[in-house]
Amino acid sequence: MNGAREHWGSRLGFILAAAGSAVGLGNIWRFPYVTGTNGGAAFLIIYLVAIVLIGYPMMITEVGIGRRTQRNPVGAFKALAPNTPWWLVGALGVLTGFVILSYYSVVAGWSLSYIFKAIAGFTPEMAFDELFVGHISQIGEPILWHLIFMALCVGIIAAGVVRGIQRWVKLLMPILAVLLVVVALRALTLPGAGEGVAFYLQPDFSEVTGTTFLDAIGQSFFTLSLGMGAMITYGSYLKKEDTVPGNGAYVVGADTAIAIIAGFAIFPAVFALGLEPGAGAGLTFITLPAVFAEIPAGSFFAFLFFVLLSIAALTSAISLMEVVVAWITDEKGMPRKTATILVGAISFVVGIPTVLGYSVLSDVTFLGFDLLDTYDWIANAIMLPVGGLLTAIFAGYVWTAKKAQEDFNTPPSRIVLGNWYGVMIKFIVPIAIILVLVFGIIDVV
Ligand code: TRP
Repeated sequence: MNGAREHWGSRLGFILAAAGSAVGLGNIWRFPYVTGTNGGAAFLIIYLVAIVLIGYPMMITEVGIGRRTQRNPVGAFKALAPNTPWWLVGALGVLTGFVILSYYSVVAGWSLSYIFKAIAGFTPEMAFDELFVGHISQIGEPILWHLIFMALCVGIIAAGVVRGIQRWVKLLMPILAVLLVVVALRALTLPGAGEGVAFYLQPDFSEVTGTTFLDAIGQSFFTLSLGMGAMITYGSYLKKEDTVPGNGAYVVGADTAIAIIAGFAIFPAVFALGLEPGAGAGLTFITLPAVFAEIPAGSFFAFLFFVLLSIAALTSAISLMEVVVAWITDEKGMPRKTATILVGAISFVVGIPTVLGYSVLSDVTFLGFDLLDTYDWIANAIMLPVGGLLTAIFAGYVWTAKKAQEDFNTPPSRIVLGNWYGVMIKFIVPIAIILVLVFGIIDVV
């Protein structure tokens, strides 16, 4: 089982897998929402700058560390800095992947169940808030969907990098893109859609505050799946002759394009029906079903939407699982199938309290968060930024930006990293992450 390391069958295999990791719930609901509440196009401009200055340098750093070392995150840091505690950054990444997987699967399970609710039909008289709360506050059903989703991940990951991950992302990512465009076209052709487009695209600089910049930086980081070794792991299945700057650019470009199109799917629909673009899970599972209930053939489009949301979640979740599985197989020598089943089973169990947080464990809160939001906050506000910060410091100062830059620039590719890479990874990226980390904590505590 521990023979030669698997490699992507083609460049497209890597790009689709990494874009599949990046495109997730963050693109479909979080990006449109954050954009809308931060001045529309004004936020979009700041976000794009953050993607170029912070997201892209971090993306190539992670992918590059993976390609260079051909190892899981723990092994990668060990290979570049032997006999130092830097491997702990990789270990933090593995742990983070594990935590995110456990509750991401629960939310993905809601999405799966809504595929069937849409098939049963959405009608205008339905109370969608009660439908949603009624669903998540049950015990058996959400746990069953969580189990089904986790089993899908296990099935894909157990089959391997090429026969599992690559095979499925090649099928699923094009379907996701087509469904998103179909849903966006439906939304844009609704009467009254123009108001939503205006809300989304008219720059309103009066809404821009310090928080806008922090949101843009945080989103650029989260949406690209950075800070926990997912891109190190996927990068480790690149061959030495694959380019880092070029492949990284495709992944970042694809993720950004999908996020922007998602805004065109959500806002016109919400505004056409005079609804509020409210935050979070509520927008996806309460407001949008209400929108679909009102429009012609709405249940069909709701079905397409929840299929697309489930695909986005699945291709992200498999990258989370792969980080943990790669660590166990590389470092502990366990066969891939056994490792996958073990990781799936433990994450399933660890995720169960987040389901029960809406019923029997609803009294358990942390800083006012329910259990699912607690898992989410610890992972996103603490673990990912800390992991990303340490990775940037490692690349910039320990491996050194000069050596990293040289390594990433071989073999020569159309995009050549200049010395600006060092400026970004040593100064701009760490400062930006520290700001997000500090203000993110102050905001809540
Ligand atoms: N990028 C994913 C999204 O936009 C979420 C995410 C963050 C993620 N970190 C990750 C997914 C790590 C997989 C691996 O929804």
